[in-house]
Amino acid sequence: MDRMEFEAIVAQAMLAPSAHNTQPARWRLNGECIEVHADLSRCLPVGDPHDRDLEVSCGAAVEGTVLALAARGAGAEVTLSDAPDEVGLRTIARIYPKASADAEDAELAAEVSKRLTHRIGFAPALKGAFEDWDATHMTLVEDTTQIDWLAKQIDIASARVMRSRAFRSELLHWMRLREGDPNYHTDGLNREVLAMDATTARVAPTVLGGRLYDLLSVLGLGPHLSGEAARSRGAGAIALFHWPANGSMVEAGRVFYRSWLQASARGLVGWPAAALADDPCTRAAVSDRFTVPTDRVLFNALRLGAANGATPSRARLSMRDVIV
Ligand SMILES: Cc1cc2nc3c(=O)[nH]c(=O)nc-3n(C[C@H](O)[C@H](O)[C@H](O)COP(=O)(O)O)c2cc1C
Repeated sequence: MDRMEFEAIVAQAMLAPSAHNTQPARWRLNGECIEVHADLSRCLPVGDPHDRDLEVSCGAAVEGTVLALAARGAGAEVTLSDAPDEVGLRTIARIYPKASADAEDAELAAEVSKRLTHRIGFAPALKGAFEDWDATHMTLVEDTTQIDWLAKQIDIASARVMRSRAFRSELLHWMRLREGDPNYHTDGLNREVLAMDATTARVAPTVLGGRLYDLLSVLGLGPHLSGEAARSRGAGAIALFHWPANGSMVEAGRVFYRSWLQASARGLVGWPAAALADDPCTRAAVSDRFTVPTDRVLFNALRLGAANGATPSRARLSMRDVIV
């Protein structure tokens, strides 16, 4: 594989989703092997203390690499690793190109450039959009009463995690609320992708950073501040993703991304709601209500539906930042 081909593969692979758009995955060409590493400076010590989302995000990047190879007619043999390497990096996977691509992989690869996180709400999904979907690792909730309940839980769970000032401060660190921010188009969550109006963006640092949020939270207004319930309720389905409790979250991330691309192939857009899995009380309540087997753990949720408008485009690092 020459350098140009490698860079073309990385360009496609780096479109994978990541928590807070931290983009922790790094790529290296080592002979014929494509290595994926985690840049540990991109972890979220407060919001993701056990590196679950770091690993899920890197898993999505691994799957993105496999699909980029498939788009070029190549298959892939993936070996996962958990070895610390140089200071600040951890090896996640070694990917060896093989002779021929899986047909489904090649089809999914075509969805990679279309998939974006869609936070502005949903239009009704086309009839049959959720039919015949392999649901081994997800529970697909389509009943409107249950979606209503989940929509409420998402805001309650967000309010619980947002009670921590350290969490809010970490979130603010990844928010790009001023267009003049040098990282506005490169990483984190900018005002457009968050679907945040200019006034809210102006006051957000003061509200999130200080005591005002604590006060509003004490007054029980937390769930209203997150304010996603109305948009969540418009989802045609909410997919609850679960994985064996002792399994690899990198593999979970591969499946999560694949399912999101399958949704895209069905004409759907997606919006994760990791708070359902982050807050232990909510995770337990959701797992109980939807009978997630006790040996599996809920690790994310994806609100799904038809797009109700154009999705804001993505922010990404440059190639030289992600090749190590
Ligand atoms: C593990 C994981 C957790 C995520 N959690 C959330 C979430 O709770 N809320 C949200 O709005 N987006 C969430 N996202 C979406 C990311 O913010 C999004 O992928 C990132 O900003 C890149 O944008 P893109 O998906 O449009 O390419 C999550 C993504 C991943 C991979």
